[in-house]
Amino acid sequence: MANTIINGMQWGDEGKGKIVDLLCPAFDAVVRYQGGDNAGHTVKFEDRHFALHLVPSGILHPETLCVLGSGMVINPDTLFRELDGLTEAGVDFEDRFFISKRAHVVLPIYPVLDQAREAAMGKAQIGTTARGIGPAYESKITRFGVRMGDLLASGWESRVEDQVERLGREIVALGGEAPVEHEVMARCRDWVERLRPYLAETESLLNGWIVDGKSLLFEGAQGALLDVDHGTYPYVTSSSSTAGGACTGSGVPPTSIDGVIGVLKAYTTRVGGGPFATELEDAMGEHLRERGNEFGTTTGRPRRCGWLDLVAAGHARMLSGVDSIALTKLDVLDELDEIRVCVGYRLEGEIVKSFPPSVDLLEKVEPVYESLPGWKQTTVGALLLSDLPQAAQDYVSFIEEWLEAGVGIVSTGPRREETIVRDEENLSRLTGGRLSDIVEAAAGNKAPARN
Ligand code: GDP
Ligand code: IMO
Ligand code: MG
Repeated sequence: MANTIINGMQWGDEGKGKIVDLLCPAFDAVVRYQGGDNAGHTVKFEDRHFALHLVPSGILHPETLCVLGSGMVINPDTLFRELDGLTEAGVDFEDRFFISKRAHVVLPIYPVLDQAREAAMGKAQIGTTARGIGPAYESKITRFGVRMGDLLASGWESRVEDQVERLGREIVALGGEAPVEHEVMARCRDWVERLRPYLAETESLLNGWIVDGKSLLFEGAQGALLDVDHGTYPYVTSSSSTAGGACTGSGVPPTSIDGVIGVLKAYTTRVGGGPFATELEDAMGEHLRERGNEFGTTTGRPRRCGWLDLVAAGHARMLSGVDSIALTKLDVLDELDEIRVCVGYRLEGEIVKSFPPSVDLLEKVEPVYESLPGWKQTTVGALLLSDLPQAAQDYVSFIEEWLEAGVGIVSTGPRREETIVRDEENLSRLTGGRLSDIVEAAAGNKAPARN
């Protein structure tokens, strides 16, 4: 068995949903541990397509237990919409879906406040997903928050009323329209009975499962560079999206974790504001956006696109302690003559290889590129690394050498069956010796393969 964290190594949307879904056959449970419905995780297999925001990507595997951990902030309206969508799609989850009583509720006033603050910031805005994530974490940290478990007891109503009054005043001062108190209260009351069957002490549940020999997969949301402490602050989300967040956000101690698989897109994207050294605001950026279908799963916004930034990814590798890399969207580069990779930053006349600690500095850096030849052939659906064109194999090796971590998975299409799974030492360890099950899932109806 193994307890493994899946973490994005960039600014989100690396393809974490696809990788979590792929790895499920080797795990008993999937746990979300931070963020909320700002996440948008896409899972595709055969002719099926799911976009998940709160529910773990493991839900599509009928035997997999799924948990929303204590570090999350949860909007019940979004959750119910998502659960209804799953039911309509024939996914049964009733006895295997659990929500931490310690997770925080995204009250209906938070998205309104999020939007009012963003509008008031003008050009300096963060470009949030407008889901109320910042206000929800702010209320949690200032100890005004309402937890999911609070809804089952008495006393929560006056706390919600207090927030509606206080935050309502801020919304009005910012020029927005405050929600009506009795409507907010009615909405919250409507949630209680539907939430009740799912609410659990998931911290004890998860640790009990570990004692029973079950394997847990932790599904990160966002990416390391959006981490509130370690990312491009203030252009970040409001939670700990590096691997460390998996412990605080689930109640599973670091001593029970076996390691981390980092998900890295073969180029870089970012949604919202903030520094992005390798951004391409030209035809090449447009090419990546179109070919990579880089439009937000949550908000539909076009994602900013650029070359792979190994300085930023190296920062993520260090912070999350990535043992094995899942490299995604390699196929998006298939048509290019030349591929650039950022291997350093030029900053105030010097070359730096580490990620600067402030936005002021990050806005001044100029990327130092290394140029690699493109392969100009399709890579979609390859089963073995050795099936890829030599230049594509060289691209993978370049990343491995630079980041000092093996690439265990190479994704060459959005579907589960468009993935190369390698017999890489750390990947084998982090899937608890059940790598052959994953190789089989990736092969789909093609012959199982190995390399
Ligand atoms: P997440 O937030 O990290 O789960 O990523 P998203 O689902 O928001 O964005 C990733 C997008 O890329 C989705 O549309 C996926 O279907 C798609 N995708 C994932 N892996 C691949 C791949 O290897 N190739 C291509 N072309 N698309 C991929
Ligand atoms: P997944 O899990 C990409 C970005 C927003 C904004 C910043 C703060 O799909 O990778 P927030 O609403 O969290 O306060 O917004 O963070 N952001 C994401 N970008 N993927 C995500 O999630 C994101 N979640 C938040 O665009 O720049
Ligand atoms: Mg996403």
